[in-house]
Amino acid sequence: MIEADSSFLRNLWYFALPSQSLKPGKMRAKTLLGEPILFGRTQAGDAFALRDLCPHRAIPLSCGRFDGAEVECCYHGWRFDAAGSCTHIPSLVTGQQLNLDRFGVKSYAVAEVQGNLWIFMGDRTLADPAEIAIVSGFEGRAPQFHLKMIYPCALDHAVVGLMDPAHSPFVHRAWWWRSGHDFHEEAREFVASHLGFTMVRHKVGIMTFVYQMLGGVPETEISFRLPSVRIESTTTARYHVSNLTTITPLTESESEVNFFAYWNVPWLGLVAPFLRPLAWQFLKQDRDVVERQQVGLKFDPSLMLIPDSDQLAKWYFQLKKEYAQAQAEQREFVNPVKDRVLKWRA
Ligand code: FES
Ligand SMILES: [Fe+2]
Repeated sequence: MIEADSSFLRNLWYFALPSQSLKPGKMRAKTLLGEPILFGRTQAGDAFALRDLCPHRAIPLSCGRFDGAEVECCYHGWRFDAAGSCTHIPSLVTGQQLNLDRFGVKSYAVAEVQGNLWIFMGDRTLADPAEIAIVSGFEGRAPQFHLKMIYPCALDHAVVGLMDPAHSPFVHRAWWWRSGHDFHEEAREFVASHLGFTMVRHKVGIMTFVYQMLGGVPETEISFRLPSVRIESTTTARYHVSNLTTITPLTESESEVNFFAYWNVPWLGLVAPFLRPLAWQFLKQDRDVVERQQVGLKFDPSLMLIPDSDQLAKWYFQLKKEYAQAQAEQREFVNPVKDRVLKWRA
């Protein structure tokens, strides 16, 4: 049975923003995991994130000004540096001694990896940027393709919807992907991997239009890890195309899906503008289905998980539960995924 829960996993890296959307000297407000966050980039180029609430009277700091080094609150002009330390309170007169250390604002650990800004939601002393998922083969590169879409649902339903193999023939009917009549049995080998599981590299079963364009029979590997990061790597003899899909909960009822692609195919950049509406349609089909699902979820029904097509969803819930328990008990995370072959018709 599915029991989607609204609590967010802490002490994990979440995707925040594409790096290039945060220019030097600028700031941007965004709610993540229900927390108001102010992202900024100093004139020197360093990204930072602060709680977007002035500690004085709770007005969002994003309503204030940023001079490229410090944020000035719009209400009484208190100033904060990129580490969240209060540096100036304009109303104080000579002789009014205050220890400004007491008036800082919470700051978050952030890191930039492969063209994206990630934020550590939790105890920042535990933040290790090496824990951010890497799209291997594209180290140090920025994505060549990006799509963003807001799903009007809780994180769990967005994750389960995107990883579910059985919905494709029904939700993703399109001439360039699936016709809806080409059902066949699939067997896929899965192994446990860091904070998640991996569908072992295998030859792609159905030659879709998109794969034909890559030439040869491609091989694909797909990995998932907490909190909600999926990396798919497709290779042919000459080419390598990978995509990174991240789902960041904005609130309990809204989740942001970001889809990035990295490739070494020289001509793909020319074709990408034509693929954009197709990829957008694909993400929108998933979005529309979870939107309709909200109609039924209002009645708080219990949901079902069946073998084997819902095994990925089962693992996801087990991974979440184990991560939360390991955190609470302050012990090592033990991956609950057992290596096995999963079969389904799709
Ligand atoms: S509310 Fe921010 S300085 Fe007073
Ligand atoms: Fe889908």
